[in-house]
Amino acid sequence: AAKTIGIVVGSLRKGSFSKKIANFLIENAPEGYTLERIEIGDLALYNQDYDEGESPASYAPFRNKIKSLDGVIFITPEYNRSVPGVLKNAIDVGSRPYGQNAWEGKPTLIISSSISNLSGFGANHHLRQSLVFLDMPTLQQPEVYLANVQKLFDDNGRLTNEDTANFLRQVLDSYTKFVEHYAKGFH
Ligand code: FNR
Repeated sequence: AAKTIGIVVGSLRKGSFSKKIANFLIENAPEGYTLERIEIGDLALYNQDYDEGESPASYAPFRNKIKSLDGVIFITPEYNRSVPGVLKNAIDVGSRPYGQNAWEGKPTLIISSSISNLSGFGANHHLRQSLVFLDMPTLQQPEVYLANVQKLFDDNGRLTNEDTANFLRQVLDSYTKFVEHYAKGFH
């Protein structure tokens, strides 16, 4: 059966470069895979009180969606040398109530970017720290740091830089092999 990979983007901005990278991946989905964006902008700020009472209406569909996935791709910018709060919020929402971590065991790919040479290294590695505790096996190589991301697209927002396009196709190839490996039942 086809596998479904959820793409979680750490930016809500309309013109987000991270969203444009997501669109490229969706259009270049490997055979046998469906890639789809998972919205996180409508998730209320996580409050632990919700775990003992009623949760915001947006939480249950989000958690169920994450549980249904065969893998997760995080595409994130760097905000102040870490992940944007909106992404951390989504991670926290998916991780609870205690003992019902929706992220557990999902083979994961991290892509970070920035509009400078820094390429989101800080965000990329802060994110890895959370994924260790969430028990998400994460692709180690190739690492994906996209620098000067604003230069990769044409006026219509399509990724036209050939080197980056080829690199990202290779990354998807490595990632799907990784997903197949974990699908054999490590978890
Ligand atoms: C940034 N930006 C940024 N860039 C970077 O390389 N390191 C950083 O620490 C930060 N910090 C930061 C904080 C905040 C609050 C904003 C709004 C921006 C710039 C960032 O790379 C740029 O805005 C990207 O375009 C954001 O990604 P999207 O929205 O295009 O996906």
